[in-house]
Amino acid sequence: MERSVTDFLQLDTVTVQFGALRAVDSVSIRVREGERRAIIGPNGAGKTTLFNAITGVVRATSGRVLFGGADVTRAPVHERARRGMSRTFQITNLFPNLTVAENMRLALRGLSPRKFSMFGSGAPDAEETERAAKALEISRLHARRDTLVKEMSYGEQRQLEMAMALVARPKLLLLDEPAAGLSPAERVIVSDIIRALPRDLTLVLIEHDMDLVLSLVDYVTVLNNGKLLVEAPPSDIRTNKDVQDVYLGKARHDA
Ligand SMILES: Nc1ncnc2c1ncn2[C@@H]1O[C@H](COP(=O)(O)OP(=O)(O)O)[C@@H](O)[C@H]1O
Ligand SMILES: [Mg+2]
Repeated sequence: MERSVTDFLQLDTVTVQFGALRAVDSVSIRVREGERRAIIGPNGAGKTTLFNAITGVVRATSGRVLFGGADVTRAPVHERARRGMSRTFQITNLFPNLTVAENMRLALRGLSPRKFSMFGSGAPDAEETERAAKALEISRLHARRDTLVKEMSYGEQRQLEMAMALVARPKLLLLDEPAAGLSPAERVIVSDIIRALPRDLTLVLIEHDMDLVLSLVDYVTVLNNGKLLVEAPPSDIRTNKDVQDVYLGKARHDA
């Protein structure tokens, strides 16, 4: 795979240290524009921390994060968002007593539920309404726009998180375990939504479920103990000895 010309997201020897623990340990990753990349690995491997370093939720202790050619290593979250990064969280981040449409409006304004009291700058304009409708359509929630979030299934709430991430029209979408805790039927819906995302959107997907992830991505990065263990196309992951030892072996014991 030719990957040097248009690296869109580039991590150079990124380390994130919490006290004595190197949650991410000198990881270098390059993702091309439009690529779909999975980050997999056992619990505690550093996957979410890596996302946090990409999006600015934590700062890399050392190393560099480049996005769209710009060094964003020390840029705050909102600056990276402005440049086109959008993410969902592993822990659901919705406002349960509001409707789907109201949650979308918060997302459009770049506000989190915690900042809800600052919201109130009037009705959405036509362009915002159109963007929200499109994101809800992609996330298959268009018919649910007036439903209270607390009345929706957990699966639908995860779909809404994706819609809220998409409404910003990101260039890079980071999904942290979008299928975690879902039923098999709900997993199928989330997979179908991911598969149908615009092809020019660069996607980085953390997922614990190998079966789900290997059918969705172009390339896979495996982390273990904060370190990059293997990078390979999905077809080579299952047969990779290191992956079997560290990831599949462990998953089998966990099951
Ligand atoms: N804010 C934090 N402070 C201290 N340790 C953390 C923090 N966030 C994550 N860790 C630790 O870093 C390691 C990697 O965690 P995480 O990135 O959540 O792994 P994963 O998402 O792969 O399960 C774990 O040992 C976790 O306990
Ligand atoms: Mg995680």
